[in-house]
Amino acid sequence: MNWSPHLDALLGSADSICVLTGAGISAESGVATFRGPDGLWAKLKPEELANFDAFMRNPELVWEWYSERKRIIHDVAPNAGHRALAEMESLVRDFTLVTQNIDNLHRRAGSAKVRELHGNIERSFCVSCGRFDNSATVGEDRKPPRCRQCGGLMRPDVVWFGEMLPQEEMEAAEDACRRCELFLSVGTSAVVYPAAGLPLLARASGAYIVEVNTERTDISSRVNETLPGGAGTVLPALVERMKELRKARS
Ligand code: OAD
Repeated sequence: MNWSPHLDALLGSADSICVLTGAGISAESGVATFRGPDGLWAKLKPEELANFDAFMRNPELVWEWYSERKRIIHDVAPNAGHRALAEMESLVRDFTLVTQNIDNLHRRAGSAKVRELHGNIERSFCVSCGRFDNSATVGEDRKPPRCRQCGGLMRPDVVWFGEMLPQEEMEAAEDACRRCELFLSVGTSAVVYPAAGLPLLARASGAYIVEVNTERTDISSRVNETLPGGAGTVLPALVERMKELRKARS
């Protein structure tokens, strides 16, 4: 696999790395992406499933969809791309993994420094009292789960259209963008803001921006380097090179 001498030098020396991931990194685990002809949004209407009003109108339908997605995600495993990022974390002093994915696969692969911008399908909270209960599931009767404290309706802890991103996660992601030397944008179409603005923030702050994607995206022409290919192939190659260079340095 080819990359520039500048990126090669950074793989050996960068002390601060930030990575943004999107649905593409989980594609090789068998989780569908959102856009494109086989994407989830080609088959489903986001406005019927992924917004608060839709949920209040028909919580059964929304819970049915998220229960099904949860089941799919439980049945798949993290892939070589997720594992490479978990290993990258152990090689770099200041590492931040920012993900738009709700599938929890980064944590399952061993990543600890994860910032989840769009929530996590494993978590739920009560729309009335805000209490979190990660064991909430749809019952045999297919009724949406209720809060064990106040009886309110539980909802998945995922960010829906029109909702704010979790502030602490977003601020931590922006801070990481401002201080990193190397920024990797992996498996995201980079069209959904504010996440899509992070590579540009990192670039404006002086970082070297590399995109890892099977296709060109909205930000391809604005990054420093593109590495075409699947995350499960490209990321392990980058990590192998990091280990080689850092071993030689120590
Ligand atoms: P998309 O479905 O928009 O984009 C997936 C990207 O992954 C595309 O650019 C593909 O070319 C690329 N891709 C596919 N397979 C790949 C592979 N094996 N290796 C590398 N890249 C690959 O997904 P996101 O960009 O994550 O938000 O979408 C952003 C947000 O839009 C999601 O978090 C979700 C959705 O609406 C919410 O639900 C709030």
